[in-house]
Amino acid sequence: MRRFIRIVTTVSVLFLSVSCTKNSGQTPSQIAAALTEIRIGQFGSMTGGEATFGQSTDKGIRLAIDAKNASGGIKGKKIVLITEDNQGKPDEASAVVKKLITQDNVLAVLGEVASTRSLAAAPIAQKNKIPMISPSSTNPKVTKVGDYIFRVCFIDPFQGSVMARFANDNLKVKKVAILKDLKSDYSLGLAEFFSAKFKELGGEIVSEQNFQTGDSDFKGQLTRIRSSNPDALFIPAYYTEVGLIARQARQLGIKAVLLGGDGWDSPKLFEIGETAINGAYFSNHYATESNNLATQNFIKNFKAKYNHTPDGLAAAGYDAAMILINAIETAPELTPEAIRNQIAATKNYDGATGKITINGERNADKDAFIVKVDGKGLKFITLLGP
Ligand code: PHE
Repeated sequence: MRRFIRIVTTVSVLFLSVSCTKNSGQTPSQIAAALTEIRIGQFGSMTGGEATFGQSTDKGIRLAIDAKNASGGIKGKKIVLITEDNQGKPDEASAVVKKLITQDNVLAVLGEVASTRSLAAAPIAQKNKIPMISPSSTNPKVTKVGDYIFRVCFIDPFQGSVMARFANDNLKVKKVAILKDLKSDYSLGLAEFFSAKFKELGGEIVSEQNFQTGDSDFKGQLTRIRSSNPDALFIPAYYTEVGLIARQARQLGIKAVLLGGDGWDSPKLFEIGETAINGAYFSNHYATESNNLATQNFIKNFKAKYNHTPDGLAAAGYDAAMILINAIETAPELTPEAIRNQIAATKNYDGATGKITINGERNADKDAFIVKVDGKGLKFITLLGP
């Protein structure tokens, strides 16, 4: 039997090196299970307008994996992380995930941050029965792709209603304008969920304007928003566009308080938004001020390795990797199916972003941190639950 396994492994590696696994007669998951090392794939935006998302996530994942390898790996096997850059493009996301699964023979995939790219890749992981864990994609559609697709974060119906409640209850805002990104599933969903809850609470959406990822001139939309005279402007988008929108809004004399979601979380937000972003609020997966011991340990270890404070993406990446590592470790055998079942069984994992239990929809029910932009940093305001 042992000899047989060794032969299978050698044969797999051979096929791998000429990258023609298709002809081996084995499925990608069979090949992955027979390897002498544990290969995990990560796909993310390492470059492009959302580069800090991929880079931070990768750092968080590596922190978890390096620590595990330093203590001997899993069941005597070393974990090897293969990171693929999708340049922030959905087409690239599906191409690199196909490569990770069919050529690199990874046992599981971590990613993506942006919901649109998770949605582009999830059908490939599902079809090949390779578990995929998104650290931070919040659009509800992502995990609905199938039973191999998980996330370790909350979803946007919750995040949208949290921001609507915060605007209504805490800021006492009555009239809100929305500026959303037509190219982003995240943006469209969050705008819709925010709007529904805000109206239910008695508020009014006075203007709803659109843009597309990559745009840099928002003056037309902002001029229309200005004439609707909102108390707040909700921008469910990513940091590059948010920073530019904030600056142009202030240039046009818009005084409304700026509100957003987790997509704002980036050290680049302060650089791009400059002083225009100061005083804005957004919901997030984590706050550095959290007194949770797991969060503080994570921050300490992250700083020791990388010499800077981690953002929420790094924390979510770390949690996704830890949950995967725990699942691989407790799986009765090293197959994608057994690992999938262990991920699904995750209960009360004490993560950097809070306690994580994977629910029946393969999402995590967690609280949201409301933070305020305060100069070049973020200030924790409050924690909101369901
Ligand atoms: N939640 C966003 C999405 O689904 C991604 C994101 C998460 C961005 C956390 C920044 C921080 O697209």
